[in-house]
Amino acid sequence: MVIMAVSSSSSTFQPVLDRIAAEIENMPARGRPADYIPALAACDPRRFGMAVAELDGTVYGVGDWRQPLSTQSLTKVFTLALVLAGGGDALWERVGREPSGNPFNSLVQLEYENGIPRNPFINAGALVVTDRLHTQTGDAAGTLLDFLRAESGNAQLASNKDVAASEAAHGDRNAALGHFMASYGNIGNPVPTLLDQYFRQCSIEASCADLALATGFLARHGIRADGTRLLTSSQAKQVNAVMLTCGTYDAAGEFAYRVGLPGKSGVGGGIIAVVPGHCTLCVWSPGLDERGNSVAGVAALERFTTLTGLSVF
Ligand code: DON
Repeated sequence: MVIMAVSSSSSTFQPVLDRIAAEIENMPARGRPADYIPALAACDPRRFGMAVAELDGTVYGVGDWRQPLSTQSLTKVFTLALVLAGGGDALWERVGREPSGNPFNSLVQLEYENGIPRNPFINAGALVVTDRLHTQTGDAAGTLLDFLRAESGNAQLASNKDVAASEAAHGDRNAALGHFMASYGNIGNPVPTLLDQYFRQCSIEASCADLALATGFLARHGIRADGTRLLTSSQAKQVNAVMLTCGTYDAAGEFAYRVGLPGKSGVGGGIIAVVPGHCTLCVWSPGLDERGNSVAGVAALERFTTLTGLSVF
């Protein structure tokens, strides 16, 4: 597949992206960057980029769409897909598929629910998924990086070591989640190994263009950029469904209401979204709301589905 970067105003999505960027420019409040990871706190909340990738790899973009961003929890979608591809439904014995209604780093449900996290997109669930991927491959973060490079066509993608170190230095909550689940037998690798893999995973940097392309397999019903199959079309449907119901934490209902697409946010300010059978999107703006979702990112996706009529509903 040829990956083409297009920004001509005659293209299908470009006028819509230009209009959204102009509207976002006038937004008064843009939220605040994540400050619990000091390396992310310095980001300017007024940065904004958005990319749309069509099924054939044609990409449209606006603003900071080629600027690398910290992927953070966006990576949870790709690790989930890789584990399902490698190990099938066995994963669902270790992690649920229900919205948690709690913050992404919450501990409270885990004890009531015997160390089984509610879903793969809260931190506890993502740790279980990364643990499985590490057991399957021997190198969870490396496998993820290879996948993102292949799907985006960008061989330069890498983890940011400063961000990974910053996360490790402030990672007590993730360590607590990992050890607690290990006490229930739900983690197979040593917790320090798992945390190292998880922080390397979260600190991968990629642009909106890279991430819109890398998400393409979910719009192509499981087919990768090179035409091979990663997931069955059923599995792709299932991943999209979990994104819709759980991808934006305790704001998933509001996100579905406003945007009407499967989406996944990260505290780096990125959001990926899927229009199955049509296109994928990635938007970035580092200012977050109190639930950890990009303020301008959600607004931009809401405008996209409103202006184009493209949604799953
Ligand atoms: O686990 C953490 O704290 C981060 N590395 C990732 C969290 C994240 O992006 C949650 N998203 N909104």
